[in-house]
Amino acid sequence: MRRVYRGRDIEVSFDLDICTHAAECLLGLPGVFELRRRPWVLPDAAAADAVAAVIERCPSGALLYNRLDGGPQEEAPATTTISPLLNGPLLVRGRVEVRHANGLVEQLPRAMLCRCGLSKNKPFCDNSHLAARFQASGERLRIRLSPVRPVLEKPISKADDPRRD
Ligand code: FES
Repeated sequence: MRRVYRGRDIEVSFDLDICTHAAECLLGLPGVFELRRRPWVLPDAAAADAVAAVIERCPSGALLYNRLDGGPQEEAPATTTISPLLNGPLLVRGRVEVRHANGLVEQLPRAMLCRCGLSKNKPFCDNSHLAARFQASGERLRIRLSPVRPVLEKPISKADDPRRD
């Protein structure tokens, strides 16, 4: 479920269900994205341009933004690209329309789609490929260690993720 955090200049939304724990947010702007604070997102704690730039680096599409200050909205690339990641999901960059079983239609500018077949949240990757030690060729996505991913191959579970509250 997507939650909305409204600031003065920018509105940020987050969907933990599709987060793949790349932690671009926590490491990119720790004053805005603070795991143990409530609310964990303070959109006005940095310039809207900086918040938007960090969110656009979120590979899963879990984080989105809506500029309220007249600044540029995120533009999905004209051509949608799908890149298999090494031992992992398909990284999609471009406009994606997801039609959920419950009828909800969601548009994302980025997404990580399951390639291993084991996700419990298809079509999205839920990191099940890590426990299954899925092997496949592809691009290497740089992922840094963080509080939500203390070990590269073992991100914290959604149940243990403080952002669910
Ligand atoms: S590729 Fe990640 S859960 Fe399938």
